[in-house]
Amino acid sequence: MKKTIALVCALVIVLSLCAACGSSSAPAADAGSAITTLEAGKLTVSSSPDFPPFEYTDDSGAIVGIEPEIMALIADKLGLELVIDAMDFDSALLAAQQGKSDAVVSGVTVTEDRKLVYDFTDTYISITQAIVSKEGSGITMENLGEQTIGVQRGTTGHIYAEDDYGTDHVVAYDTYTTVFQALMNDQIDCILMDDAVAKAYIAANPGLVMAESTYEPENFAFGVSKGNTALVEGINAALAELTADGTVQAIVDKYMAE
Ligand code: ARG
Repeated sequence: MKKTIALVCALVIVLSLCAACGSSSAPAADAGSAITTLEAGKLTVSSSPDFPPFEYTDDSGAIVGIEPEIMALIADKLGLELVIDAMDFDSALLAAQQGKSDAVVSGVTVTEDRKLVYDFTDTYISITQAIVSKEGSGITMENLGEQTIGVQRGTTGHIYAEDDYGTDHVVAYDTYTTVFQALMNDQIDCILMDDAVAKAYIAANPGLVMAESTYEPENFAFGVSKGNTALVEGINAALAELTADGTVQAIVDKYMAE
């Protein structure tokens, strides 16, 4: 509960900051005309849809969630058609870095290292890392260093776990589907991952619990392929409009409640 309140508070702060900075910028539609993308008329984004409520596949196989919904509205404002290329998180990061997608839209945490290879948009939500384990495991931040920690390859959870406990304590998998299978099969003791997503997996998988971590909060943004300043500005203008009129908050609330 405390976490939920913290998350909501962080969100409100981020949203009001964005709303404040957005008011002075040009309408998104103006920015749209000057934007060039990989494929004319399209906004091609790379994403790892194993990350509910941010991006996941529904029963019909469609990619849905907070970010696809926000991004579709942004693309619309820019006069572009949204195309989501689904792949593992590590590949989704690489695609935008190599200019094979216009942006990575995949619950990406803004970090100093990543700022070197992407032009990040404004941030729209914050999370913190959490530890997921089987009920009764007694695993917390205090004894995390004694465990075998499962992570998704290339995530901040992966980076923190290896930096703090060494590669011998960490097993990396390509998708959260396989990370959670490994936990169920006792191939790992716990998972270090974003708390909002941990909650979604726990809700869907009985017998799992979450412990808070002491890692710093992380901000999510869209990682635009480096150098496409017009696209960053266009996305930011559209995002500011969608924030100011309450759309972003409504989308976040809708998926967080599910
Ligand atoms: N926020 C974390 C990071 O940026 C995890 C993101 C994982 N995203 C995903 N769609 N699986 O590293």
